[in-house]
This record gives sequence, structure tokens and C-alpha cells, in this order.
Amino acid sequence: MSQPKPIRKAVFPVAGLGTRFLPATKAIPKEMLPIVDRPLIQYAVDEAREAGIEQMIFVTGRGKSAIEDHFDIAFELEKTMSERGKDLSVLGPTRLGPGNCAYVRQQEPLGLGHAIWCARDIVGDEPFAIFLPDEFMHANPGGTGCMKQMVDAYTHVGGNLLSVLEVPREQVSSYGVIDPGAESGALTQVRGLVEKPPVDRAPSNKIISGRYILQPQVMRVLEAQEKGAGGEIQLTDAMARMIGQQPFHAVTFDGQRYDCGSKLGYVEATLAVALERDDMGADVRAMAQRLLG
Ligand code: G1P
Repeated sequence: MSQPKPIRKAVFPVAGLGTRFLPATKAIPKEMLPIVDRPLIQYAVDEAREAGIEQMIFVTGRGKSAIEDHFDIAFELEKTMSERGKDLSVLGPTRLGPGNCAYVRQQEPLGLGHAIWCARDIVGDEPFAIFLPDEFMHANPGGTGCMKQMVDAYTHVGGNLLSVLEVPREQVSSYGVIDPGAESGALTQVRGLVEKPPVDRAPSNKIISGRYILQPQVMRVLEAQEKGAGGEIQLTDAMARMIGQQPFHAVTFDGQRYDCGSKLGYVEATLAVALERDDMGADVRAMAQRLLG
């Protein structure tokens, strides 16, 4: 197989209302909730950069401008910090270079498939990645991130890839589920996809966990996609129609996944990251032991 086209662009659908985290998300986007001291969206963007992706496309909505500000220059802040001799490195790589980020609006909440379709003109005619920032994919210490693992697999198989993981069977109805074919290491062939199936109709307990590499043809499929589960235009339904026409694989992430769309998952992610950090891990462990009595 000739070398597949590189993945240079990533789409981040961030227009959701975040009602599960009210009142915290009344005035700030849920993607700006911090895991210790970095907002969730920053982890996703860093994961994209690690995978060699250069251009970030955010599908936003009303009330999401904090995300734009976060990735911009904060002139007053940086100037004041410099004048006071403060260390600017705490800001980390939060600035996206000129022309390296784009924002499009999803004006109505018509579903994930519709959100992705809103980015069609900026994606253009090249393969692209998708990150659902609620799904916090945390690399093992010393390991690589989820998208980097997917891009590495993509250089071998090309086509379309999804990240998947196994969940207890009774949870499958909250997710997109794959019908798995042949397995080889971390790669599984995808024979079918179904969004939020009833437990007894799910083809497996392998769910799509919020990272995708897709070929641009998906945009044409989405254009004509009818509403599916929950009355929404589902990305899963559009992808299902591409199976058989293009290679379709799933990658099992070697790392930890936390569902930060749920409060428990968010607390777990926060604890896991805090415990792992050199600057606070030991103190957090002692604190947790004290609290647990
Ligand atoms: C979306 C996708 C679903 C995927 C899930 C991962 O669902 O439609 O296929 O498994 O994200 O979090 P949502 O959580 O938006 O209902």
C-alpha cells in the first residue's frame, strides 16, 4: 500500500451545553473545566500535537469564547507576568500559532454527525482526526497518547480508524458499538457499527471512545445522513455506511480512559493525574489517606 496521506487537521466538537455539570458550566464551557490546572480541551489539543497534527478546528457554539481566548495570546497577562519576573512557562503551549486554529459554529444541537459536518469546508479533501474532549485519554507514564497510537497504526493500514475499549455489557447503550472482525495486536477490523443499541442487540461490548481518524468522504455521507438514535444526526451511522468501501479498523488504546462527561469520571481523572504528578503526588496521597481515616 502506498503511504496514506498524513493527518494534519483535527476537529474538536465543543458546542455541547454541558448540562451534567451545572451550575459550574452555566457561564464557562465544560471543556474548560480543569484537571488539576489544565483545562480538558488543553489535554486533547496536546494529544493532537503529540500525534503531529498542526491545525485545530473547533466546532463551537454560543458561550464558548473562553476556548478561543485560551488558545490565543493573553497579552496583558504575559506582559504583567514578565514585568513581575514571573515564570511564563506555566502557561505551557497554550498558544496556537497564527492560522493554526479555526472556529466554526454549530448553530443548532443536531448531533455529533452534524457538528463534524459543520467543519467540512475547513477540513477540505484530506483525512482528519476527531477528538471528543470529554473522553480524557491519558497516556501511561512514559507511553504515547491515544491519537499517536492511532496515527502509528494508520501509517500501516490507512483508511478509517476508531479508538475502542471494552465496557461492562450493561453500559453499551450509552455508546457507539463496533461489530468486531479479525484482530491483530491492538488492531481490530470493524465489520459494523451501531449507535446506542439496546443491550441485547449490541454486537459486542467494544465501544467507540472518542477518537477517530476519518477519510474526507465521510462529509459527503453526512450531508445526506438522516436522524438516528436520540433524533440526532449520528457520526456512527455515517461511518457505518463507509464500511466495505474503505478500510475500517479499531485501535485499543494502551493507556487509561476517563469519561469526563460524568462527574465520577471527572473526579477519578483529577485524582489520577494529581497522584501521578511529581510536584504533588506524595502530598495528595497523604491527603487522601487522611481523608479516608
Ligand atoms: C458520542 C458518540 C458515541 C461514542 C461516545 C464516546 O456519543 O456518538 O458513538 O461512543 O461519544 O463518548 P455521546 O457521548 O455524544 O452521546
